[in-house]
Amino acid sequence: MTQHLKMDQPDKRHRFDDMAQGVIGKAVDRPEGALKVTGGAHYANEFQPEGLCHGVLVRATIASGTVTKLHKAEIEALPGVLAVIDDNRLLRNPAQGTANEAPVQGSQTVAYFGQPIALIVAEQFEQATHAAKQLRIDYDESEAATDPSVESLDTEKPDAQQLSQGDLDQAMQSAYRSVDVHYTTPPHNSAAMEPHASIAQWHGEQLTLHGSYQMLNYNRNELADSLGMDAENVRILSPYVGGGFGSKLGIAPEAVAASIAAQQLMRPVSVVLSRPQVFEATMRRSETQQHFQLAADKTGQLIGIGHAARVSNLPDEAFSEPVTQGTHFLYAAENRRIEHEMVRVNRTCAGSVRAPGEAVGVTALENAMDELAEALNMDPVELRKRNIPTKHPETGQPFSSHKLMNALERGSELFGWSKRTAQPATQREGDWLIGLGMASAARVNILMEAKAQVTLLPDGTATVETDMTDIGTGSYAIFGQIAAELLGLPMSKVTVKLGDTALPAGAGSGGSWGASSCGSAVFLACEDIRQQLAERLGCSDQILVLKEGIAHIGEQSVAINEVLAGDTFTALGHIEPGKTSEDVQQATFGAFFAEVGVNAVTGETRVRRMLGVFAAGRILNPKTARSQCLGGMTFGIGMALTEEIVHDPRDGHIVNHDLGEYHLPVNADVPQLEVELLEELDDWTNPMQAKGIGELGICGAGAAITNAIYNATGIRVRDYPATLDKLLDGLSSHHA
Ligand code: MOS
Repeated sequence: MTQHLKMDQPDKRHRFDDMAQGVIGKAVDRPEGALKVTGGAHYANEFQPEGLCHGVLVRATIASGTVTKLHKAEIEALPGVLAVIDDNRLLRNPAQGTANEAPVQGSQTVAYFGQPIALIVAEQFEQATHAAKQLRIDYDESEAATDPSVESLDTEKPDAQQLSQGDLDQAMQSAYRSVDVHYTTPPHNSAAMEPHASIAQWHGEQLTLHGSYQMLNYNRNELADSLGMDAENVRILSPYVGGGFGSKLGIAPEAVAASIAAQQLMRPVSVVLSRPQVFEATMRRSETQQHFQLAADKTGQLIGIGHAARVSNLPDEAFSEPVTQGTHFLYAAENRRIEHEMVRVNRTCAGSVRAPGEAVGVTALENAMDELAEALNMDPVELRKRNIPTKHPETGQPFSSHKLMNALERGSELFGWSKRTAQPATQREGDWLIGLGMASAARVNILMEAKAQVTLLPDGTATVETDMTDIGTGSYAIFGQIAAELLGLPMSKVTVKLGDTALPAGAGSGGSWGASSCGSAVFLACEDIRQQLAERLGCSDQILVLKEGIAHIGEQSVAINEVLAGDTFTALGHIEPGKTSEDVQQATFGAFFAEVGVNAVTGETRVRRMLGVFAAGRILNPKTARSQCLGGMTFGIGMALTEEIVHDPRDGHIVNHDLGEYHLPVNADVPQLEVELLEELDDWTNPMQAKGIGELGICGAGAAITNAIYNATGIRVRDYPATLDKLLDGLSSHHA
């Protein structure tokens, strides 16, 4: 049986307001945790089928041009080499960074340095690695554009991303105070711990791929598209994923290459990307150039908001970092101009990385707001409070729920914001200049179509099955909780099976929608099973209470397995977005507060403490939710202080293509982080009243830190990250 729900109106059943089992909202451990720390959870490259051989990608050493000859014969003669594959289907990186788009194929064109152009397959990984280094390639090289800031490059301005309301120029002229500032953010890498890895194996027409992916249902279609085959014949398995952060949303080159090689050799083939290959041949977040014009009246009311963004991608790639996404709805202002510009460059494909859009857009906006607060001589928290819109400032849609005010107030109180001195560079402890900063958090909330199957077995245990992934976020725990709650079972009686395209198509892990979208599918399936139980008991679902494996109807109690009497009850839950995604603006909000110390001599910045307060609808599991926020804030520290892909200006190649040189924050960079989750229930989002929380913790986080650096030093860094070289000149006056 199927229970289908299209979210065309708010859902009023409020099933989790009143819980018999009491596991929703509890800090339940992840059931796969022990497997992960004992090596029992097998990742993509840990399957070792009989006859496995190893492929290593060969990549372009020019930024732009065509491949005229591969000197294959010399390589084919090397020890252990089984094949040199230059199939057209792997000549262009198909990773789009967004699921749902057909990969670009069949082009001989090299569009960026590091692009995969061939695969060497050998008996042993070392033999393939060695041979890959020897392959000589002739190119016909053409002129490359590698610097997206060059003014003369052609730009595209997609209509859908331009907005003009009122008269911003007039607002800037008549403002009591205004800021007109430019910010830049560098390219970022997702930097998941597990590199991209695939093992492909064919059985006749059927392809099975063990991979590390986020969106299996879409990835299956992308892989089938790339290979020119029917998606029905492709099965992808990703039961455990060692992080994705966007880089595994779309199918990556190793999966296509392994599949082609396995078919040609009629043997299973493994292709694992090295860390430099992950950096250069999957994707990056685009660098951004951002121009803000903010105009305020005497009371601190914004009368104008201007935000113009410029991003880059490869020729023909559809994805465009949605930098201004948060600016559309975060603050009210009558006069608005929001512009987006795309420039085509020969740099690794740009795609979704850790909250595409708001991560960089809200962060820079929150810096500009800090500048405006200073110009107005107004407290930065107060400036935000005065500009919270009562409805979407452009479309007039109401918000489904909105707790920015509560987050700002609660955060100020918990952090001790009132102790901040507005005058910069006035707090000092020895060589350390101390400052406080804050920023708002905002992220769109998205519902994705999802299906899940739930089965209640005669022994009173249940299974949840969907192709949804758990990329380290807590899907296994949360779906177990939902089923346990609704079916009245202890968590130990629920088994969750994920990460296999043979199972019903879930929502995939991306855009913070996983738990709420796919969880709703689990919810609906369980609702259906409850009805089946009620029917068998001859009562209404309304009076049926299921708890600890027992069905209670008034005074009467009967064990659930007795109700089943040897039968199996099963149901498919299916949620789809509907009018509630259009009628109202759905978003999550929060606030960040940070304290930094900046060394007056060396320019080194240390984050001393940091708080995030977030509202994201019903919190299904405060432990996994909090962990997501901790991760987001950690990325905020990285964005503010260290993270930056450096492209060589000559050929665009990524200079710092490993985790030694691409500086993610490590333990010693991250102080005690505090997370506070606010209560919020949202009927518009889904029947669980939950919203997505995965990415909210990064959306603005870096600005709290850079605003704190300003408060500490009086130096405004507008070019992320705020490395010490950007502070040293300004600090000379502070030398003791
Ligand atoms: Mo995310 S960047 O949608 O995995």
